[in-house]
Amino acid sequence: MSWIDWADEATTATRDSGQWRTPRVLDGDGVTHLLADGRSVVSFASNDYLGLTQHPAVKAAAHQALDRWGAGSGSARLIVGARPSHSELEAELAKWKHSESAVLFPTGFAANLGVMTVLGGDDVLVCSDELNHASIIDGCRLSKSDLAIYPHSDLAELERLLATRGSRRAMVVTDTVFSMDGDVADVDAVANLCAQHDALLVLDEAHAVLGPEPSVAALEQCAHVRVGTLSKTLGSLGGFAASSRILADLLVNRARSYIFTTASTPADTAAASAALRVLQSNEGATLLARLRSNVDRVRLAHPSPIIPIICGESETAMRKCDALLELGILVPAIRPPTVRVGSSRLRVTLSAAHNDDHIDLLLKSMESVGLFP
Ligand SMILES: Cc1ncc(COP(=O)(O)O)c(C=O)c1O
Repeated sequence: MSWIDWADEATTATRDSGQWRTPRVLDGDGVTHLLADGRSVVSFASNDYLGLTQHPAVKAAAHQALDRWGAGSGSARLIVGARPSHSELEAELAKWKHSESAVLFPTGFAANLGVMTVLGGDDVLVCSDELNHASIIDGCRLSKSDLAIYPHSDLAELERLLATRGSRRAMVVTDTVFSMDGDVADVDAVANLCAQHDALLVLDEAHAVLGPEPSVAALEQCAHVRVGTLSKTLGSLGGFAASSRILADLLVNRARSYIFTTASTPADTAAASAALRVLQSNEGATLLARLRSNVDRVRLAHPSPIIPIICGESETAMRKCDALLELGILVPAIRPPTVRVGSSRLRVTLSAAHNDDHIDLLLKSMESVGLFP
């Protein structure tokens, strides 16, 4: 079979299973975008939770770094060295996460690959929540660890796995906010289990803008790594792993997704530093309160800005997504293989950048297409 015939078959199979996707081009900034046909839509799709991609101080920091150090970083950190903005950001991230050290990666995806491959291995049992992010799943596979996927948030099963692991070292890895369901892990309880069973804890806090914040006391009981991204709450691009110095130094020396890849750009790192300063200021508290109140308007007391509205079949989710687009609202349809067959959904993502009118329009539009958050 020729490669073109093979690609034809693969394309048809993907289309027939309802999984064909095409990225949209949307012009504009903030939460209002223009579709290719010139229509304006309010986006409820981005992970720019605090609107910091557009913050004047964040943009100014990126501009200054661009002017001072140029557009790219030139090579990998161990080859070309870092600009000061890389190491300054690492120190700030470590402090934020109450860790001795932090290591930057080009993306959160690369951070998870690095952490899982360096700390996993064929003598390690990795216990991973079944709804963990794709980057954790791929990291687990690459690490060649013994893998135990536990049912979503089932801590009794997690404890059973840890108690029966024999002589193997153990690691527990979990998202703290699950990216397609928007629910949260009981991080302190997981940390306690890790402490009881001498397991390493890896938390992926990519979406944890409204918490959960693990208690320092719970974390101090066990070896742990906190993985995060610069690309969501911090409005930039990049990922990091915060941990004890000894683990961080091992990541620098062994993580292939750190060693064999070009470092993030100085503009990205400077923007993330500026965003972190905003987050930790009074203005940050105001933005967090704004986000909290937007979430409450859509689903009272929901623990994160990710609100799934389950539709069932892919076609239903796609129909509802198109109908909302007609009303000027962009809410992405999430379908298999990202989620289980029969659980296709619309995924509403809220931001502090949404104003009351945006939320009114969302609620009114959802009602008119028969969706109730
Ligand atoms: C839970 C989780 N971890 C990691 C990532 C990867 O982060 P990044 O987009 O910075 O690669 C994502 C991205 O969507 C995510 O949802």
